Amino acid sequence: MADKMWAGRFSKEVDETVNAFNSSIAFDGRMYRHDIQGSIAHAKMLGKCGIITENDSMQIIDGLKEILADLESGELEFDMTAEDIHMFIEAELTKRLGSVGKRLHTSRSRNDQVALDVRLYLRDEIEEIKALVLKLCKVLCEMAKKHTETVMPGYTHLQRAQPVTFAHHLMAYVQMLLRDYTRLEDTAKRMNECPLGSCALAGTTYKIDRHMTSKDLGFDRPMENSLDGVSDRDSCVELACAISLIMTHLSRFSEEVIMWCSWEFKFIELDDAYATGSSIMPQKKNPDVTELIRGKTGRVNGNLMTLLSMLKGLPLAYNKDMQEDKEAIFDSVDNVKLCLKTFIPMTETMKVNADRMRAAAAGGFINATDCADYLVKHGMPFRDAYKITGTLVAECIDRNLTLETLPIEDYKKLSDLFGDDIYDAISLETCVRERKSFGGPAPDCVKQQIETAESRIKELEK
Ligand code: ARG
Repeated sequence: MADKMWAGRFSKEVDETVNAFNSSIAFDGRMYRHDIQGSIAHAKMLGKCGIITENDSMQIIDGLKEILADLESGELEFDMTAEDIHMFIEAELTKRLGSVGKRLHTSRSRNDQVALDVRLYLRDEIEEIKALVLKLCKVLCEMAKKHTETVMPGYTHLQRAQPVTFAHHLMAYVQMLLRDYTRLEDTAKRMNECPLGSCALAGTTYKIDRHMTSKDLGFDRPMENSLDGVSDRDSCVELACAISLIMTHLSRFSEEVIMWCSWEFKFIELDDAYATGSSIMPQKKNPDVTELIRGKTGRVNGNLMTLLSMLKGLPLAYNKDMQEDKEAIFDSVDNVKLCLKTFIPMTETMKVNADRMRAAAAGGFINATDCADYLVKHGMPFRDAYKITGTLVAECIDRNLTLETLPIEDYKKLSDLFGDDIYDAISLETCVRERKSFGGPAPDCVKQQIETAESRIKELEK
């Protein structure tokens, strides 16, 4: 078992079960790069401020760099009995440098160290997630360009409601994802304050330079209050929430994909590489990927609850409960990346069945509003027009007709405002083409939406 740093205070070794229970290296080991990055900045500052000698500072920095290289090459492996990544790296440094290594932790605590590491780690992860979100936006815009004329039913209550296009539908997701992107940006911005130098909770009597380490590590500024510096986990909660929303959007999209590839819809077909078969039913092609994304959204939402519940009763400052933050936020980060990485190529390769979409749009009276609007445009108040159209729909259902096939005489029986041009007014193409209010599904409007989104994406990529 790794020697305990605090052995001086204790007369017994820690119980093995407790040691395993307490240890976080199994999940915080992944932050080794960031831990070393933080320690190097700290050692540099200690040397510059004359708290340790420049020579010790240099030795420590070199030692840390060697440890990093050895971990990267696999030459050095984690000691799984170490309490956490921080203890492990410090112990390894001391093993290599002797008493010089023992100077690294001057005017620092694991409390500010772990707060720092998590921020450094998540800052990098956020960049990766942002890039994936933008990639998905680009894929959806490309698809949308091909489908500005692909009419499909728009739904409310999962009942066919009014005609839209597949492009319009896809671009709705682009809007959600662009909001997700800005949420990640906001989170990263608020997170970008440096807790290092808060020490255990009450700062330090050494003349440290927190501005120097903050700048060196790419933060906007040091955190203002040392108690807050070690107690704050808002950034984990915010990121977990931003990720939950991304997952919610992917999950809603997934739910639609699942429906769309059913025999009942057949709006799309997944590429064989992104579907699975059944062990017993030879005919099956299952949308497992999307179901798994929908399922994983539950656990990611659970992580958000874990973090909020873990924090709600904690007095200031550090409490060991906070060690529980990492598994939760890491799991959200891992899963959203995994889901995006699978969802993107799955979407990119799916086959769109425009005929099936068009056929579905032709049933279900989704042009009924347009029929009422026809009367309104000829002077009738909307409520009266609505009632007459309702009667027409009932008539069609009775006689197994559609508004397109109902004879003009039947129209005229209910209102003499109807003329032969009603058929053109309620044709699906007209219904879509004329819905050109800002943000609407008319091909020209959606082309505009795509253009705006693409220039925004270009801007964000800079
Ligand atoms: N492994 C700990 C964590 O993740 C590091 C901080 C430990 N601090 C302490 N005072 N025990 O929270």
